[in-house]
Amino acid sequence: MLVAGNWKMHGDRAGHGALLSALKAAAPWSAEVSVCVPAPYLGDVAAALQGSDIAWGGQDCSSHVAGAFTGEIAAAMLAEFGCRHVIVGHSERRTLHGESDSLVAEKAQRALDAGLVPIVCVGETLAERDDGTTEEVVTRQLGAVIDALGTRIAEVVVAYEPVWAIGTGRTATPAQAQSVHALLRATLLRASVDAAGVRILYGGSVKADNAAQLFAQSDIDGGLVGGASLNAADFAAICQAAA
Ligand code: PGA
Repeated sequence: MLVAGNWKMHGDRAGHGALLSALKAAAPWSAEVSVCVPAPYLGDVAAALQGSDIAWGGQDCSSHVAGAFTGEIAAAMLAEFGCRHVIVGHSERRTLHGESDSLVAEKAQRALDAGLVPIVCVGETLAERDDGTTEEVVTRQLGAVIDALGTRIAEVVVAYEPVWAIGTGRTATPAQAQSVHALLRATLLRASVDAAGVRILYGGSVKADNAAQLFAQSDIDGGLVGGASLNAADFAAICQAAA
């Protein structure tokens, strides 16, 4: 099991320090735990978490290796600050920054090349779910990454995040999530026999009181947690639920 926190663009130095102190006091858990933090804080976070049971990561990386790309962050830069993970293809990047399936696949490739584990996000909008195209959408999104990575798909983490459940308090039911996770699992296995070990996280309003039910599903291997990762007690409870 893996539980990854996604802090998004929240907080400040003092608040992050307090949050990490509380999490370190609550660790370890039987699940692997990571926090994906805003890039300017990576040095602070690395110093705070070095030698602890909690890993850290970035929230995005460039599709380029290096060069004249103002404002972008290379995967190698994240690696230099000790990141283990980097989120790629979060729905906020896809929607607000127009990231395409192929761009997300290139980012996943750059992450692997830099020695990071990409957490590849897929998920349908409410309109797509209502239209009955959920399976088509997530298969297309994951398929682009499989096409780019080939058998290296076995090295990624996948996160299923239905867009309508992100930050809305409206969680997918365990059965709804499990059915998409099973589809993603089958898609991964068709791509590579080695992909049996790929962790598929659920994300979208994971909270302390619904995490255990979600994590009990056979194809849910942990969570990508936004809002609840900003509260130490809530995040610790979610990590605890991923036993
Ligand atoms: P949420 O966000 O837990 O606040 O819904 C999840 C995510 O966007 O990764």
